[in-house]
Amino acid sequence: MIQTVSTMPFNDQKPGTSGLRKKVRVFQQPHYAENFVQSVFDSLDGFAGQTLVVGGDGRYLNREVIQIVIKMAAANGFGRVLVGQGGILSTPAASHLIRSSGAFGGLILSASHNPGGPDEDFGIKYNIGNGGPAPEKVTDAIAARSLVIDSYKILEAADVDIDMIGTAQLAAMTVEVVDPVALYADLMESLFDFPAIRAQIAGGFTLAFDSMSAVTGPYAVEIFERRLGAPAGTVMNGTPLPDFGHHHPDPNLVHAKQLYDRMMAADAPDFGAASDGDGDRNLIIGRHSYVTPSDSLAVLAANAHLAPGYKGGLKGIARSMPTSGAADRVAEKLGVPLYETPTGWKFFGNLLDAGMATICGEESAGTGSDHVREKDGIWAVLLWLNILAVRQQSVAAIMTDHWATYGRNYYARHDYEAIAKDRADTLMAALRDSLATLPGTSNSGGTVKSADDFAYTDPTDQSVSRNQGIRILFEDGSRVVFRLSGTGTEGATLRVYIERYVGPDGDLGLETGDALAPLIAAAQEVADISGHTGMDKPSVIT
Ligand code: G1P
Ligand code: ZN
Repeated sequence: MIQTVSTMPFNDQKPGTSGLRKKVRVFQQPHYAENFVQSVFDSLDGFAGQTLVVGGDGRYLNREVIQIVIKMAAANGFGRVLVGQGGILSTPAASHLIRSSGAFGGLILSASHNPGGPDEDFGIKYNIGNGGPAPEKVTDAIAARSLVIDSYKILEAADVDIDMIGTAQLAAMTVEVVDPVALYADLMESLFDFPAIRAQIAGGFTLAFDSMSAVTGPYAVEIFERRLGAPAGTVMNGTPLPDFGHHHPDPNLVHAKQLYDRMMAADAPDFGAASDGDGDRNLIIGRHSYVTPSDSLAVLAANAHLAPGYKGGLKGIARSMPTSGAADRVAEKLGVPLYETPTGWKFFGNLLDAGMATICGEESAGTGSDHVREKDGIWAVLLWLNILAVRQQSVAAIMTDHWATYGRNYYARHDYEAIAKDRADTLMAALRDSLATLPGTSNSGGTVKSADDFAYTDPTDQSVSRNQGIRILFEDGSRVVFRLSGTGTEGATLRVYIERYVGPDGDLGLETGDALAPLIAAAQEVADISGHTGMDKPSVIT
């Protein structure tokens, strides 16, 4: 029986660029998740009888919210729900399932790389029929609806068994529990030269993949161990756990320390990689050789033609504004356009849909292509493996070659976390006020060439996004960028992105910290970070 439940709006349900992310306890309030799901459905048109995909990264509350979504989808008139077995779907696999099944859209339950568990984070994100995150006009409509919602519809029914593959009927709606891995693994096999990678591994090439107790475990075991023949144990932390084993499933040098230490050891494997909570990010570390995400994007773009799925070349490359300019030089050499977008994957989606770009990436360890409409951790790892199998060189040798050809963009991101929101806003406002007076002045970083607040005009629909981050460019091409995170759940997070370019004939072998020291000092001088935040050093450096 369909129930219409009276409810009250919650005033803080505005979804950010990555959907709605809140503490689990917030989601556990009566009607909270239901309100949001109904606000999503109320903002959509024409889904009667259509298919909805649902799945998540397996974090705490995943199963409960999946049952709510299924029963609400039935009550609201969807014709079919496709759910990953056990409630599991990585974000890229969900994107692929939406696209390949012709679904109307999908709900992905995840808070990405944020920790999970009863005291940690949960999230719900709506993706549209192209498989990508909902555009701003949809998220704005959801936000507006959530402020006035007074009831939601849910089917009164027993929970659906989501652990057995098969089909069940829920009132007029069909529920299909599908294998979350197989379709996605087939897609990967269609893009990359699996026989070449398999031969390389059979010949003694070793790898380690850290799933960080998050969603990629079953995907990685199927792809790296079963289909590519890597020995059992290649996948570390391969069982998805509701609290990610108390870890922060963020594949950076701080949180993926276990992998990092293994890759720096004397007996390190040839290649190491990790992915995040929902499987869309990647970390690449060669034997004794860390690759920054910005460099990884550039190397992948420069070598993509070595993989069967990209042998026709690239239509264009897109990177977010804070991502280093390393990919720009590759685009220039390839003679393809380079798009500089605001932070967040949805801007790439438009370029991919329009056929303007093939490969996209962000400094925050997200890389992907037009095969889905989300970034894709395992995809990036497979493209690296394909390149290594063809070039028969180590990761370190490939990096050395790359810098000798294109020059090197020394790069780091400094995050100042959990700052009081008003202090962070004051810092940004003061920086904005100083923009006009900065050009021509000098500080530890050199002479400022220009300073602005990044604005982007989407070439596909001419829509304009303003206030996307403050850029300070120096005469020698170095750059410092300041922006506030849109995904944190505690206070505000200030991100400072620091970059220095050295040409092919310059000093390519510096320590990153040494190369960037003057710019780090300049960031402090220009923004008075310690004065505003009370912090004398960043919480995380990546
Ligand atoms: C962060 C990353 C950004 C990424 C987003 C979603 O957003 O910096 O590149 O697209 O997570 O994964 P931020 O917290 O900086 O707004
Ligand atoms: Zn993620």
